[in-house]
Amino acid sequence: MQTAFIGGGHMASAIIGGLRSTGAPGETIVVADPVASQLERLSRDFGVRTTGDSAAAALSADVIMLAVKPQDLPLVAVDIEKALRAARAPRRRLFISIAAGVRVVDLARWLGADTPLVRAMPNRPALIGSGITALFAGPGVTPDDRATSDRMLGTCGATVWVDDEALMDTVTAVSGSGPTYFFLLIEALEAAGIEQGLTPETARRLAVATAEGAGRLAAASGDAPSVLRAQVTSKGGTTAAAVDVFEDGGLRAMVSRAVAAARKRSAELAAGAGAQ
Ligand SMILES: NC(=O)c1ccc[n+]([C@@H]2O[C@H](COP(=O)([O-])OP(=O)(O)OC[C@H]3O[C@@H](n4cnc5c(N)ncnc54)[C@H](OP(=O)(O)O)[C@@H]3O)[C@@H](O)[C@H]2O)c1
Repeated sequence: MQTAFIGGGHMASAIIGGLRSTGAPGETIVVADPVASQLERLSRDFGVRTTGDSAAAALSADVIMLAVKPQDLPLVAVDIEKALRAARAPRRRLFISIAAGVRVVDLARWLGADTPLVRAMPNRPALIGSGITALFAGPGVTPDDRATSDRMLGTCGATVWVDDEALMDTVTAVSGSGPTYFFLLIEALEAAGIEQGLTPETARRLAVATAEGAGRLAAASGDAPSVLRAQVTSKGGTTAAAVDVFEDGGLRAMVSRAVAAARKRSAELAAGAGAQ
């Protein structure tokens, strides 16, 4: 199976790295990007084929991963559609778009109504193979297409499917933007540690390692986060003193408002992308 990446930036690099490290041969992957230095790096690091011509890359592929910025996608998609329509030997191609907020209805408008389309929303930790990607299958996507999409995005983390495209906005608000919420908490914990006498270096090491350990423990344990929390919060103890401050300050309501705001913004951006 030949795969074309249209756009060879951060996310494409993460997925290509995942594919290569799980055994996909370099010659089965072609990357199209306008930046020559980007292409040289991808060729050197991953042994993949490269080109400056998106339409040519798409023509040679069975699976086309759209990994350009959302605002670049309409033009890129229309160019590809023209090239594929003009091709002498048409063949079935699966498109997987990782562009944030670009809906299947708009992709189908640009690429053709019968095109099998999967939308994927990865997140930043994909860069180190620890991401999570939510996927949504458009009309015409077969179980094989789903398995292909799952396998490809699964090389840089976990995957989860949603069956209502509107939920992709919620996914964006929870896991797409989510790593930044944790960065903010790490930043605040580090600053608080410094305020309470730690050196900046020690405060950062403690905050980062604690976030990593808590995340890994939550992922590895079969218990709900509320159970894990109760296990380390003895009545009258130090953790309880801190948790009381979080609860009194309305942390849960604040997280709920933050996710609602991100979801609303994601829906607005999706509507804007569709207007192009
Ligand atoms: N980064 C994240 O955490 C994240 C998470 C979820 C989803 N996404 C989505 O993933 C997509 C890629 O994000 P990214 O962070 O990887 O962006 P990026 O690093 O900017 O990569 C996009 C690449 O596409 C290239 N490009 C522009 N026009 C092109 C064309 N006509 N043909 C081929 N390539 C073209 C860009 O070149 P120039 O630099 O010259 O424009 C750039 O190298 C975005 O749609 C984003 O919404 C990203």
